[in-house]
Amino acid sequence: MAKKLAAGNWKMNGTSESLSEIAALIAAHPNPSVDVLLCPPATLIAAASTAKGSHALGLGGQDCHANVSGAHTGDLSAQMLKDAGASYVIVGHSERRTDHGETSDLVRAKAEAATQAGLTAIICIGETLAQREAGETLAILDEQLQASVPDSATAATTVIAYEPVWAIGTGLTPTEAQIGEVHAALHSALGQRFGDGGDFSLLYGGSVKGSNAAQIFAIPHVHGALVGGASLKAADFSPIVTALE
Ligand code: G3P
Repeated sequence: MAKKLAAGNWKMNGTSESLSEIAALIAAHPNPSVDVLLCPPATLIAAASTAKGSHALGLGGQDCHANVSGAHTGDLSAQMLKDAGASYVIVGHSERRTDHGETSDLVRAKAEAATQAGLTAIICIGETLAQREAGETLAILDEQLQASVPDSATAATTVIAYEPVWAIGTGLTPTEAQIGEVHAALHSALGQRFGDGGDFSLLYGGSVKGSNAAQIFAIPHVHGALVGGASLKAADFSPIVTALE
C-alpha cells in the first residue's frame, strides 16, 4: 500500500526566522496520520531537526551530489544531509534540470547515492507546456521515469513526484483527468518494471494549495503532493496536510 505523503519544498527560501513556521506546523499537527515532510534549504536542516525534536515531521534536502565526498566545491552529499537530520532528498526537480542542466542519467546517479546513504529519494519528472501541447506528455514522462529511476529502486526507498513544469509556481493546474491519466500511466509503468507499482508513492506537484488539495488527493494513484509556495507558511501548508489525512 503506497504511503501518503505531504511534502513541502521551500526551494531557495527561508532563514533561521522561518523555523517558527516549523514549530507552528508541528503545533497544528501534533500527531499526523500521514507522513509530513519539509525540505528547507540545506542551511536549515540541522536547526530544523533540533527544533522538531521527537515529532514525526520528516526533513529532506532539495538536491545531493552523486558522489559520497571529494573535490566538489559547493555541493553536498546525501550522507551530509543525513548527518544534518534529513531522511529524504528531492532529486531531478525541473528547476535543477533547467538551471543546472541535470540529465536523467545524473538524476538516477543521485537517487542511487541517496538510497545508499539511507535517504528516501523523491524523484521528480514533468513535461513542459510545449511538450504537452505537442501531445508528447506520456512519452516524455516515461522516458524521464525509466532513465531517472535506478534499477535498485523500491517503493520503500523511492517516491515519484509528477510536476508539470508549466504548473510550477504559475497558479495553473492540470485538469483532474490530466493528472489521473499521468498517475495511472506511472503506476502501470512502475508495476511493469518493478512488479510493485502499486506500492510506490506518487506525488503531484504544481500550484497545490489548500483550496485544491482535496480534489487532487481524490484522484486515483495520487498519494500526496510536493508543494512549493504553499509550504512556506504553516497556515498555508496545514490545510494541505489535513486534506490528505
Ligand atoms: O517542488 C514543488 C514545486 O515545484 C511546486 O511549486 O510553488 O507550484 O507549489 P509550487
